[in-house]
Amino acid sequence: MTRASKPWSATVLTLFPEMFPGPLGHSLSGKALEEGLWSLDPVQIRDFATDKHRSVDDTCFGGGAGMVLRPNVVDAALEQVKLREGSEGNRPLLYLTPRGKPLDQAMVRRYALESPGVILLCGRYEGIDHRVMEHWEEQGMEEVSIGDYVLSGGEIAALTLLDACIRLLPGVIGKEESLANESFELGLLEYPQYTRPQVWKNKIVPEVLLSGDHQKIAAWRQKEAERITQIRRPDLWVRYLEQMGRKQ
Ligand code: ADE
Repeated sequence: MTRASKPWSATVLTLFPEMFPGPLGHSLSGKALEEGLWSLDPVQIRDFATDKHRSVDDTCFGGGAGMVLRPNVVDAALEQVKLREGSEGNRPLLYLTPRGKPLDQAMVRRYALESPGVILLCGRYEGIDHRVMEHWEEQGMEEVSIGDYVLSGGEIAALTLLDACIRLLPGVIGKEESLANESFELGLLEYPQYTRPQVWKNKIVPEVLLSGDHQKIAAWRQKEAERITQIRRPDLWVRYLEQMGRKQ
């Protein structure tokens, strides 16, 4: 991407806009934000409350602990973001929830490389009134989960998704190849890496890595990636074998 083109942009609807950019303001993503390779627009959901106490939630029908975000408040926030987006806007709208589709590297690649950015909706408390979710899903909103565990809100999930996307944006990571070989890009977990010293706590660096023979090194790395994937992630290993079968 050239500096003149529009940066990849993230709009995040949240009750805690001060959590952003948070960790994304540091390291590679922080530098990329400063350089204008991506942009961030946190939107305070509370600004769309209509009562004088600016309340955003209420007790849930049917009883039980916890509060539910009101449909009208969340809807008004989404409407405004969509309005600002205009009819040209084609950023995916994603609601972060443990009930969503599990995020994987293929989805990350799609959001980062095939879309001008993302609009993320973060829930809190017990959730958001189901009707507003239904309404926006009818307009194309997707539910995304970052894993099978429950966070106290969608913000950390949103930061995770953004981090995974931002590092793929052109110009964020210097060497293209450092992305090409990493875990999941080829459907395998990453092979082990070593640096100096050659001997550390009586542990040595595998001989082949010192050989200078690039073919042998590549073959060793491939074997290690396959071995580790088989042991740790039989699910990925099966998928990898299927993919390789299809390619042959
Ligand atoms: N909000 C709470 N838990 C979550 C999860 N696992 N993934 C995405 N959003 C969430």
